[in-house]
This record gives sequence, structure tokens and C-alpha cells, in this order.
Amino acid sequence: MSVAKKDYKRVTVKSLVEMKQNNEKISMLTAYDYTMAKIVDGAGVDVILVGDSASNVMAGHETTLPITLDQMIYHASSVVRAIDRALVVVDLPFGSYQSDPKEALRSAIRIMKESGGHAVKMEGGKEVKESIKRILNAGIPVMGHLGLTPQSIYKFGTYTVRAKEEQEAQQLKEDAIMLEKAGCFGIVLEKIPAKLAEEVAKSVSIPVIGIGAGGDVDGQVLVLHDMIGMTHEFNPRFLRRYMNLYEEMTTAIGQYVDDVKTQDFPSDKEQY
Ligand code: KIV
Repeated sequence: MSVAKKDYKRVTVKSLVEMKQNNEKISMLTAYDYTMAKIVDGAGVDVILVGDSASNVMAGHETTLPITLDQMIYHASSVVRAIDRALVVVDLPFGSYQSDPKEALRSAIRIMKESGGHAVKMEGGKEVKESIKRILNAGIPVMGHLGLTPQSIYKFGTYTVRAKEEQEAQQLKEDAIMLEKAGCFGIVLEKIPAKLAEEVAKSVSIPVIGIGAGGDVDGQVLVLHDMIGMTHEFNPRFLRRYMNLYEEMTTAIGQYVDDVKTQDFPSDKEQY
């Protein structure tokens, strides 16, 4: 059952800010294809993130680094065709925005033009400030992403909690304020202490969406395949699994194999 306080027919970047002002928590989930996006949108999720986590869950890569701009556009355009209500945010993939602001703008324009997505998300703080400004100047809404930023995994060396030390926490707080000042409509905070996330959420007027960042932020995001239990080897503390689809699908598919082998399927009723 939905507990939404206001019935947004179509979620926009403006509605998200309004939700924060009204203390209504924002729900966000990833999707990468038409069929899943149809279900996620129909279930009332406010924001669908076409995350570069597609690199892991769709393509089987170990990190998010290999996915290309063309591949992100393919996933995003499939999602956009499915949605009636949610805001669709598309990740700018690694290598499509880090080298200079002009390249960042070109990549963002390609996403908007070729996929029909509504906004882009990019990882980083002050180091991507000029790129964010350039994209925003072109009228493209930008969401920031701080904390554990998986595109920098080789710099971090591990996927453990970020910003536990004072210096990194301080930088993150400054980056969040910079992102708001630059004009971002929201910020994802990934895997940081809950207290720090709460402080950040209170220090900015734009929505802060957490993943592994505790409950005192403005909304939550999870990777769809993790929360429905299609993946089963990834078990971080922050993940709540709402289903165990890995087991259910394995059982169902095993049953199908048996039915084919034993000629139980198709039955007389299942043929012409
Ligand atoms: O790519 C992704 O799925 C993300 C979320 C983990 C926030 O960036």
C-alpha cells in the first residue's frame, strides 16, 4: 500500500524538493530495462535510477568502470519507454565526463537526446564542479553522488564505509554545499556514517538520498536486483532483501527443465 502524502501524477525535480519540504521520504530504485522499469514505475517508486551498476548486474563486470555511454543510453531508453510517473535519472558513466566540462556536456546531451531521460547523475565533488555547471547551464538537471563513489574504486581500494575520518567528512560536507550552490537538484550519499548523512541532509535544502547512509536523510535508493534477491552473493549490512528471487527462479527453472525432460511439458492443453 502506498503511503505517499501527495499524489504526484508525474514526478519532477521540483516535486522532489517539495517532498523534502513536506517531510515526505523519496523512494528511488534502479532499473535498466523496459519490463523491470514498468513494474518499478507501476509500484509507485518516485525516482528510477538507470545506474552504472548495470555494469555489474546486467553485464557481469566486477566494477562500474567498463560500461560505455552507448550502453547507458541503450538501458536508459528502454527504461524511459516504460514509465508513466517516475523521474528517470541516468548515470554518466566513467570516462564520459571526467576529462573536461565540454566532454561532460556532450555526454549529458547525448543521454538526454538519445534516451529521453530526465536528468543525469555524476560522481564527485569539487573536482567535477565546472562540468556540473556547464551541464546545468544547458538546462539539464544534475544529481550529485558523494561518499563511496564506485567509479573511484581503484583509488579507494575497497568498498568499505567512507568519510569515517574527520578530514574526509569535512570535505564531503563542503562538497554537498557546493553541489547545492551549483544548482544540483539532489545528492546521493553512499555508504557513509548515518550521523554524517543526517548532518548533510539538514545542511542543504535539496533532497539527499541515501544508500547505506541511515534513515535520517530524505529518501532511500537500492539496486533493484539486490532488493528483490536476484543477486545473492552481495550482502552488505544496509541491504534489505524483500524477496529471494534467486531461489524462487532457480526452483522454477529447475522444474521447467524436469518437465521438458520428462515430457510433462507441454501438456495436451498447452498445444494447438
Ligand atoms: O549505479 C547505481 O546503482 C548507483 C546507486 C548505487 C546509487 O549509483
